[in-house]
Amino acid sequence: MPTTFRTSFRNVVYDVLKARGWKETEGMDWDFHWAEKEWVTEFMDGIHLNPTQKLNHFRNHRELCRKDLLIKNLKRAKRMLQRDGGGEEAQKYDFWPQTYVLPGDYALFAEEFKRGAGGDNVWIMKPVGRSQGKGIFIFTKISQISKWKSESRWRLQDDDRRDKPEKPDAETYVVQKYVNNPYLIGGKKFDLRLYVLVTSYMPLTVWMYRSGFCRFSTKRYSKVVNSKGDIDNQLMHLTNVAIQKKSDDYDASTGGGKWELLNMKLFLMSVYGREKVDALFRDIHMLILRSLFAVQQVIIADKHCFELYGYDILFDDAFKPWLLEVNAGPSMTANTPDDHDLKYAMLDSLLDIIDVDKKLSGDEVRVGGFDLVFKDGEHVGPGPGSLYTTMLGTDVPSDPHIVKRPPKPPPPPDQQAQGAKAGAVNTVALRGSRRISSKKDRAPPVPRLPFAGGRRTPSTDDGRPAGSSAEPARRADARGPAAARPARAATTAARGSRSRRRRGA
Ligand SMILES: Nc1ncnc2c1ncn2[C@@H]1O[C@H](COP(=O)(O)OP(=O)(O)O)[C@@H](O)[C@H]1O
Ligand SMILES: [Mg+2]
Repeated sequence: MPTTFRTSFRNVVYDVLKARGWKETEGMDWDFHWAEKEWVTEFMDGIHLNPTQKLNHFRNHRELCRKDLLIKNLKRAKRMLQRDGGGEEAQKYDFWPQTYVLPGDYALFAEEFKRGAGGDNVWIMKPVGRSQGKGIFIFTKISQISKWKSESRWRLQDDDRRDKPEKPDAETYVVQKYVNNPYLIGGKKFDLRLYVLVTSYMPLTVWMYRSGFCRFSTKRYSKVVNSKGDIDNQLMHLTNVAIQKKSDDYDASTGGGKWELLNMKLFLMSVYGREKVDALFRDIHMLILRSLFAVQQVIIADKHCFELYGYDILFDDAFKPWLLEVNAGPSMTANTPDDHDLKYAMLDSLLDIIDVDKKLSGDEVRVGGFDLVFKDGEHVGPGPGSLYTTMLGTDVPSDPHIVKRPPKPPPPPDQQAQGAKAGAVNTVALRGSRRISSKKDRAPPVPRLPFAGGRRTPSTDDGRPAGSSAEPARRADARGPAAARPARAATTAARGSRSRRRRGA
């Protein structure tokens, strides 16, 4: 029987599935379904899946991917850590801009707004149920919110809902501190889109994709001060491709405002050195993991499900990364050939990991550009010889396509006592990764850093010194937005090997 797939998408997802030679179906006889989120919400409770069927969303993906629920879960994780004595770890849950959910938290927000008066009091309003920058606006005066507040939809919920529960809910917004000092390249704001694959929440199993991209604005950034700084100019402040496409300066032939993560990392290293940039990427790596720890007890674990998340992350001019949102079902529509290549290679490797055809042995630590980073309550880090503490933003090697975890040699007898001690540490980390019935009361696990004694995987293909590869460097600078492109020489010198598989482009 050939493997069957179902999807309503006609973008890179479809190209990759077709190229596998799998048979398309519109019925329920699929082995693999790349579904729309709405399909899962609507149908999943009413269907019975057989043990081998695989689906691309968890039932309650919203807990991480709706802006208000994300914040609720992050705040709760922080509280639980504080309560359970994980104070030091709790302090690290500081990677989202201050956020309130409206209308519910309006009074709290208004108080906070007053406290910030006179300073850098810039906020951004985002509807929780929309995407692609829709419905977003920035403001510096509370009167701008009052106007919005007086709209009927808000009033409906504020005044009438309690008495008339049959009335529909008002649209929920988050109001969030605006990161007014983003790190700029070529004078322009950008954010990062990173891809993270969770194949299980019980136990939590996380793969991070090495590549991703920066999404640049087309207009030069100017800081918002007292409603100045082109506060209404979305082309300056919102980096969504859907917004930037509307600009006269948008040009798909020069990269469509996208710049591959590797190029950005190489550029930063040429300016600031490897250590500082590695620390930034390590912070991003840990931010992603902490966000997953925060929902680990909340997401309904289901062995049929996996999720590819699109993380939106911005870092400021002090190199502090901020989590803006997490997307379930990130766009797999390509706006340039390079974008197609990246998404194609990623989805192809994702299918290898999901392993519908049962080819893997379970001890793989890298598949294409995906690195296993967390499994069985432990971090899986780059090998001891690696130059980096996270492989995020490094090159995607084409060969070998799959790297397995080497078998652990038995510890020498004189170290066995120490081994037992290390085992006890692992149990602490593991404890938090098990599902328990009262999910409210569990703090997320306190992670041991991958670069501080987590399970390490020596690897020959990871973290080669930049430029040391035998493979010829591909063109060095043609991938960045024209105005933001780093000096050719710097990039060429810093570039490592690059040889992504270009299939189906
Ligand atoms: N707190 C913030 N500070 C600065 N820029 C932000 C902030 N929140 C969002 N943005 C900008 O707005 C864009 C859209 O916001 P996001 O939260 O990703 O919503 P959407 O679902 O519409 O993509 C981001 O890509 C980023 O450029
Ligand atoms: Mg977004």
